[in-house]
Amino acid sequence: MEFKDVMAQRHSVRAFTDQPVSDELLNELLATATSSPSWSNTQPYQIAVAKGAVLEDLRERLPPMFDDLVSLARGSKFKQLKAMVTKDGVPDGDFRPITDYPKDLQPRRNATGQQLYELIGIERGDKMGRHLQMRENFRFFNAPVALFIFVHEGLDVYSPLDAGIFLQSLMLAATDAGLGTCAQGALAIWRSPLEKHFSIPENYKLLCGLSLGYEADETINRFKPQRQPLQALLVPER
Ligand SMILES: Cc1cc2nc3c(=O)[nH]c(=O)nc-3n(C[C@H](O)[C@H](O)[C@H](O)COP(=O)(O)O)c2cc1C
Repeated sequence: MEFKDVMAQRHSVRAFTDQPVSDELLNELLATATSSPSWSNTQPYQIAVAKGAVLEDLRERLPPMFDDLVSLARGSKFKQLKAMVTKDGVPDGDFRPITDYPKDLQPRRNATGQQLYELIGIERGDKMGRHLQMRENFRFFNAPVALFIFVHEGLDVYSPLDAGIFLQSLMLAATDAGLGTCAQGALAIWRSPLEKHFSIPENYKLLCGLSLGYEADETINRFKPQRQPLQALLVPER
């Protein structure tokens, strides 16, 4: 594909078919992404690849954890305090999940969310509908592969920056090969379920996940959130 077409066609896929992704293709995509630039060429990231039985175990365990977290957030202060003490189900990810958005960014987030729910017919007040859609994150949108990206703790913001560049390379390589992807911050809420399956170095912190597979012909995949006009992203001259 032409580079511009790859850029234009990459979008977040939130419904995947059952078609498996061959190990050969997956390795090829990852190998392509390794040519990404990084701070002093340190490549300060590690990737855990979940597929097969490992992925199915996570697909089974994460959605109920999400249900519990939501009911905890909506529950009594006592229940919340108890959970803090027992650490039962509370987020144990390495980075603080963003719940409060800066005032200037919140409208962009709201608009994107509203347009997505509108497209798939979930009404504004339909809390359960929204919950079930959010929950799909933890089922990896049915994808046959999920990747988890860890970043070295010792390079400050530059590790996540480099990992972001790597992720974009990977997503573009996947698009070029006819696959779909969805980067998912939601998958960084819990680290502990991953510890069961992977030997993660302690100095690497869980940044986000990425679902990967073949795009299903579903309405949700036609979502194309608008971008800010370029002008809004340019710092004005004095
Ligand atoms: C770091 C990062 C984290 C994201 N986390 C999620 C997520 O948890 N769930 C989700 O459905 N989409 C997630 N997205 C996808 C964004 O919502 C999406 O990229 C944005 O709305 C623009 O849409 P597009 O990717 O289709 O162009 C994430 C994207 C990035 C880059």
